[in-house]
Amino acid sequence: MRKFITTALVVIVFGSIAYTLAYGFLDKYIFMEMAPKQPINFSHKIHAGDNEIPCQQCHIYARRSRVSGVPSVQRCMGCHKTVRIDSPEIKKLHSYWNSEKPIPWIKVHDVPDYVYFTHKRHIKRGLRCQECHGAVETMDIVERQFPIAMSWCLNCHKSKNPPGPADCWECHI
Ligand code: HEC
Ligand code: HEC
Ligand code: HEC
Ligand code: HEC
Ligand code: HEC
Repeated sequence: MRKFITTALVVIVFGSIAYTLAYGFLDKYIFMEMAPKQPINFSHKIHAGDNEIPCQQCHIYARRSRVSGVPSVQRCMGCHKTVRIDSPEIKKLHSYWNSEKPIPWIKVHDVPDYVYFTHKRHIKRGLRCQECHGAVETMDIVERQFPIAMSWCLNCHKSKNPPGPADCWECHI
């Protein structure tokens, strides 16, 4: 009986540790936030793919700042005052516009605060969005293509000529 209880405890304790670790891993790299459900069903395939709207027409900050930014409601309305106004998803867009509220888009990428990442320098160097984000123009729902891990940054930095920085202080300030 005693042996049984000990075995059961070991199984429960180690089982839950393994579960927590596995869940944390899956949560971070596989499921959570890889492709969250957004408040409006916005499709990159329709906009950047079928209609060939250039990435930087919406993500206007990419070449000049740390962030790429998400377009304002006003930018959407530039087209959707007239385009597809019959669609329920566009009606949602209009209600944000009419109540002067920003759309609460859920972030897909989030580098921790102690890491310095900037779009500007990468774009100026001529890297294409797709090198880091994959073929976004084919996605109905944006999906993160990489784990936000140090090795991911460093592997690319090493592979380029001239290389990107490898000194700790370049990314951790
Ligand atoms: C440069 C013009 C343009 C801009 C800017 C634009 N769209 Fe669109 N959008 C389109 C076109 C064109 C379609 C395809 C319409 C069709 O299929 O008839 C479309 C389709 C859509 C649809 C699908 C509608 C449906 O039910 O089929 C949604 C939702 C949408 N857009 C949301 C947005 C949002 C949100 C923004 C701002 C972040 C935005 N659009 C910015 C041109 C634009
Ligand atoms: C018509 C405007 C529009 C165009 C064109 C567009 N995007 Fe977006 N993008 C958005 C909106 C709105 C969001 C936020 C909603 C979402 O995540 O789907 C977004 C989100 C993203 C995200 C995820 C952001 C996050 O939260 O981490 C990436 C990456 C991205 N876009 C890359 C691109 C690339 C690459 C292109 C060109 C191939 C492109 N976008 C073209 C409007 C646009
Ligand atoms: C060198 C790799 C790399 C390239 C090239 C790149 N991105 Fe990003 N992008 C990232 C990383 C890393 C993040 C997460 C940044 C953060 O959380 O601060 C990100 C975040 C984003 C976001 C959401 C947060 C934000 O910064 O606004 C959008 C939108 C985005 N990228 C769009 C683009 C577009 C559009 C292009 C091309 C013009 C592009 N990216 C090129 C690596 C890249
Ligand atoms: C696809 C390749 C690629 C990936 C992925 C990438 N980088 Fe870079 N990065 C470069 C290149 C190339 C340079 C050198 C640019 C130059 O000096 O012209 C660079 C430069 C930098 C710089 C120095 C530029 C500055 O403004 O100080 C920092 C910091 C940086 N990267 C951080 C990151 C971080 C953090 C990540 C991961 C979240 C990352 N990078 C992912 C290619 C990449
Ligand atoms: C090219 C950019 C870059 C460089 C260079 C870099 N790091 Fe990082 N580092 C990152 C990113 C991105 C993360 C976030 C990883 C994550 O959240 O899993 C990180 C995370 C970390 C962490 C937290 C680890 C963890 O798993 O939470 C430590 C500690 C660290 N770095 C130390 C260093 C040291 C020491 C150096 C120099 C030898 C260095 N880094 C160089 C980008 C970089």
